[in-house]
Amino acid sequence: MWRPLLCVSTLSAFLLMGAALQAPTAGPAPAQSPAPAPIPPEAAAMVSPVKVTPESLAHAKKIYGYDCAMCHGDNGNGKTDLAKQMNLTLKDWTDPASLKGMTDGELYYIILKGRGSMSGEEGRAPPAVLWNMVALVRSYSKP
Ligand code: HEC
Repeated sequence: MWRPLLCVSTLSAFLLMGAALQAPTAGPAPAQSPAPAPIPPEAAAMVSPVKVTPESLAHAKKIYGYDCAMCHGDNGNGKTDLAKQMNLTLKDWTDPASLKGMTDGELYYIILKGRGSMSGEEGRAPPAVLWNMVALVRSYSKP
């Protein structure tokens, strides 16, 4: 008597699972690459623990010259041959509006972990240097 009932409920459980698996994920994917993982809110809220000095900034700039400038440009405007070749749309950091909506924590997280076709600096440079890079990136919009 209860057997058919059990079968029906097992079947509907399977159907539900199928529906869940087929549920559409996130919004439309950006043209360039798959949507990057969202930045954790606690990372976005991080505030720089380092004191930026002219010396520490100069050191960050040296590393920027090796690891970042080929894409983002010596002055941060993102208009580089490599960016063009890789078909990247980079923000122009010389425009103060370009990073207005982003926190220092978000910039730090992206520099640390990378994003899309940009690889992260994690393990390559210590956190203090990366926080100086955040300050450096911000400095490109200052006259
Ligand atoms: C291969 C090219 C490439 C290199 C090298 C690279 N980046 Fe990026 N960077 C990108 C791209 C592409 C994005 C946009 C990623 C996205 O939002 O999908 C980006 C985003 C960023 C952002 C977030 C703000 C923004 O403009 O979107 C920061 C900050 C940043 N990069 C800093 C750096 C620093 C510092 C380095 C060197 C340690 C570096 N990048 C090296 C390609 C690069």
